[in-house]
Amino acid sequence: MDMFRIQGGRPLNGLVRLDGSKNASLPAMAAGLAIPGGLILRNVPALLDVETMSQLLTSMHVEVQQPRGGEVHIVAGRHTNGVATYELVRQMRASVCVLGPLLGRFGRATVSLPGGCNIGHRPIDLHLQGLAALGADIRLSGGYVTARARRLRGAEIDLGGPFGPTVTGTCNLMMAAVLAHGNTRIRNAAREPEIVDLAALLTKAGGRISGAGTSVIEIEGVESLSDSAVDHTVIPDRIEAGTFVIAGLITTGQLLIPDAPLESLTAFLELLQHMGADISCEAGILRVRGGKRLRSASFTAQPFPGIPTDLQAQLMALLALSEGVSEITDAVFPDRFMHAAELVRLGADIRVFGNTARVQGVRELHGAPVMACDLRASAALVLAALAANGETEIRRVYHLDRGYQGFDVKLSRLGAIVERIQDTPEPSRPLIPPPHFDVDRKSPQPPVAANSEKPANSTESTL
Ligand code: EPU
Repeated sequence: MDMFRIQGGRPLNGLVRLDGSKNASLPAMAAGLAIPGGLILRNVPALLDVETMSQLLTSMHVEVQQPRGGEVHIVAGRHTNGVATYELVRQMRASVCVLGPLLGRFGRATVSLPGGCNIGHRPIDLHLQGLAALGADIRLSGGYVTARARRLRGAEIDLGGPFGPTVTGTCNLMMAAVLAHGNTRIRNAAREPEIVDLAALLTKAGGRISGAGTSVIEIEGVESLSDSAVDHTVIPDRIEAGTFVIAGLITTGQLLIPDAPLESLTAFLELLQHMGADISCEAGILRVRGGKRLRSASFTAQPFPGIPTDLQAQLMALLALSEGVSEITDAVFPDRFMHAAELVRLGADIRVFGNTARVQGVRELHGAPVMACDLRASAALVLAALAANGETEIRRVYHLDRGYQGFDVKLSRLGAIVERIQDTPEPSRPLIPPPHFDVDRKSPQPPVAANSEKPANSTESTL
């Protein structure tokens, strides 16, 4: 398992190029299941999650090729088997996006329920209710969802839930409804740019979709999608863009970010400007000039067009060094604060009360060993480490590799001192039996080491 060793305190300077969006690429790859003529995707980032989605599709007898960097070719023939196993789904929640296209085109899908997640309770009830409204027969058994339908039929679907609209749920239902008989209206649909990108892809494939990017999406079902290959270029990653904006500010550096999707980051950039950040855009290049200490700011992470939950942790790292007190809540994942305790290890003054984190800005952070617990939390720790005095070691950076292509390489090119090293296994402590452990018993329950580390493919965090 890799870890990062970072020598902090160096301003980042230069130009950084964004990769394609992870959260647009994953449903786009799943959409390949629905297109008989195949799909050519461009600008797909080289990430662990993309690899997992490739493995998932391959395990369904789908042909997946990656002929050159950024390109993924997908051909799902008649022999596609619609089974997504626990082994793969547990590694990545976005695997659930195969349900809709499988059901729409092949009329059957068996997909493992994703299970637990580090950023909060993440049910898929809205996905399943929506598919049931489209006429699918849904059964849950042995940890799997089995869905069947001779032909889906258009329906009125309301995705309103207590935590806002569901992003992958909206993707799933668009991919199913596009092949249903009749018209579908999805109310309270997610409005994220990744939904708009998927709608654009499906439209190229012959789907009839309007309203993507608003909370009401209308779909006129078609008999089948394109039988010639569809070519689609994935949008740039807005979360990667936001992470680099914060990297420039937190290290008091100067960064240039060409082709940043500004219109997808409006609320986030407004918050930073309110904090006093010097950010401008000239000729399509976002320019970030760090230097002065920023002011505190309170915010709630919300569904698009609000400040994204996927930038909440990185903003917390920045606010930890800002002047004054900030309060952060996350309306999408109310418990997504596991990074707070790790930031405290670097010297931040953060307390979590229920679903609010209170951040009292400090003047300096100091290097320390910390542990990454999910993708965006890892990014927040890297940002804090880049700004901290001294050396920080961040363990379990496989989380980071799921969502940022070559983050360490890009940071190094900007002047950071980041080393990726093979983590040495933690010294194993003697196994101390619990007090009730009976050494004479014939088949004792094995005691568990307190420091046992889960492997990269454990169920602990799936995005
Ligand atoms: N929810 C339900 N029922 C459902 C589905 C969702 O109650 O059936 C709740 C969730 O528990 C959560 C809220 O609705 O409280 C929003 O969840 P959503 O379904 O929108 O999340 P997602 O689609 O599983 C995507 C991204 C996440 C991102 C969220 C929110 C992908 C692959 N993942 O997840 O990305 O945080 O939307 O914007 O698109 C990341 O990239 O780090 C990441 C976690």
